[in-house]
Amino acid sequence: MVERKNIQDKKYILGQFFTPLHICDRLISEVDFGGALVIEPSFGTGNFLEALKNLPNEKIGLELDSEIFSDKLSDKKTKLINGNFYDFTIKTNKKLIFVGNPPYRTPAYSLSTHKSFISKLTKKYSVLGMREEAVFFILHTIDLIRINGAGGEIHYIVPASLLKNNSKFFTRFKEFLKEQCHFIKITPIKGMEFEGVAQDLIFLSLELKKEASMPGSTLWSTNKNNQEFVSVGGNEVSLDDYLCLKTEGAIPFQKIFKETYLGSVPCESLLMSVEGESREDFQKRLCAIIADKNITTEKLYKNLQFNGKFHLKIFRGPKESLPVQNKLEKILSYVHNIQEKDGILQDFLNIAHYKEINVRKGVRYYFRCEKLKKKKNFVYEINPNPGKSFYFTGNPSHSSTDYFGFCNYDCNRNVSPGANRTVPIEGIENNLTDYFKDWWRSNTNEPLSEIFNYIMFVAKTSWYKDMKKKNKRFYFAIPTEFISREQRSSGKIG
Ligand SMILES: C[S@@+](CC[C@H](N)C(=O)[O-])C[C@H]1O[C@@H](n2cnc3c(N)ncnc32)[C@H](O)[C@@H]1O
Repeated sequence: MVERKNIQDKKYILGQFFTPLHICDRLISEVDFGGALVIEPSFGTGNFLEALKNLPNEKIGLELDSEIFSDKLSDKKTKLINGNFYDFTIKTNKKLIFVGNPPYRTPAYSLSTHKSFISKLTKKYSVLGMREEAVFFILHTIDLIRINGAGGEIHYIVPASLLKNNSKFFTRFKEFLKEQCHFIKITPIKGMEFEGVAQDLIFLSLELKKEASMPGSTLWSTNKNNQEFVSVGGNEVSLDDYLCLKTEGAIPFQKIFKETYLGSVPCESLLMSVEGESREDFQKRLCAIIADKNITTEKLYKNLQFNGKFHLKIFRGPKESLPVQNKLEKILSYVHNIQEKDGILQDFLNIAHYKEINVRKGVRYYFRCEKLKKKKNFVYEINPNPGKSFYFTGNPSHSSTDYFGFCNYDCNRNVSPGANRTVPIEGIENNLTDYFKDWWRSNTNEPLSEIFNYIMFVAKTSWYKDMKKKNKRFYFAIPTEFISREQRSSGKIG
């Protein structure tokens, strides 16, 4: 028998949340299958296949997990494969219609099993910087339809946040979807209808645009018709608004700062000392983790402690609980990521890399080195030279409480809740984009360093609150219309 912990791990790693049959029935009743070949790329317990049972079309179903794979739904017209979707190819003269609920997991499991395949796929379509399994499933699906060349549709359940996130990489992903596909419609589904799924989901229906040229170029040119509206739950809404592409009237933080740093709880829990731990004790503990090529979550759990204390509060919970085990898995993936770097242990043996930082309750040490920069393939952007910084909200949802302020170091995940981005204060002029400098100077004579107070002011305005409400994931931005010093001091915004 598989232990409960392993069952939970697998469920999490493979994103095993199954669609209730009544939802499958409801969703597929709206799809026009014509004479297409229908493919369910990750059928799990098979509810979509069950709902498609009476459809006369030819069907193919795939499922990776051999423990849940069953061919009881196979018949003359339905071929079922116990295999990985990323290994699947197809050649037919039929249109392809993909239906299902692909796994959603970040970071994607495929980044460990099919790293170079995913890397080629994301480069081919210039959709870089993504780590979501659902995104890779969509990319591979689009690629299969393009290579097959007979047209196709995609009808997938995906997290609603996938189309709402307005970070740089997600924006590119959404633009890519618009380039490649016509949005047939979007059907909202409440995540609560699924056991174990808390987030809101959508049934996303896309039809691939006809390509103007055949494969050969890195990104095939597609029909340039720009779709303006999409039906969401029966209401026609602006597609760009829905996709949060037109954050009209806003200057996103990426257009203000050239470089910002993002705090990360799991990163800190590994690379930051525990309260009361000396620099030397911390170095010894960290080196033991990095030197251990066979490290397990069990050993990691032991080595993340100093005098029985962890840095991360979550570890105060029961060791076997899912949140603790999930966090350990994540930190273990960081450890593996670090261990892959040539000669990295030497960096950990260098005491100068353990930077002293002031936190609310005293001093801590935070390991930093050049090799652990995102540009050098580390999972997070960590400033190798921490210093006095301004922090602003990193990942605000429509209902989050966001934090803005100054701190003496560049990472404040340990003192404030929520993910914060930081910008070093020293040399801020060199870290502002030319676009922003021009905009600021054309509006005011105030020094550029006023931007921090300006941001804190914007964060309290109804403009910011409305943007957060409208865009489920609204990464920080300021209004394009400048708020003058007088307006700011009177509290009135024009
Ligand atoms: C969210 S569940 C949905 C299952 C099913 N489509 C449904 O709607 O009930 C995702 C499924 O994808 C499977 N899976 C994960 N990675 C896969 C891969 N690379 N290839 C095929 N199946 C995969 C998981 O085992 C899981 O059964």
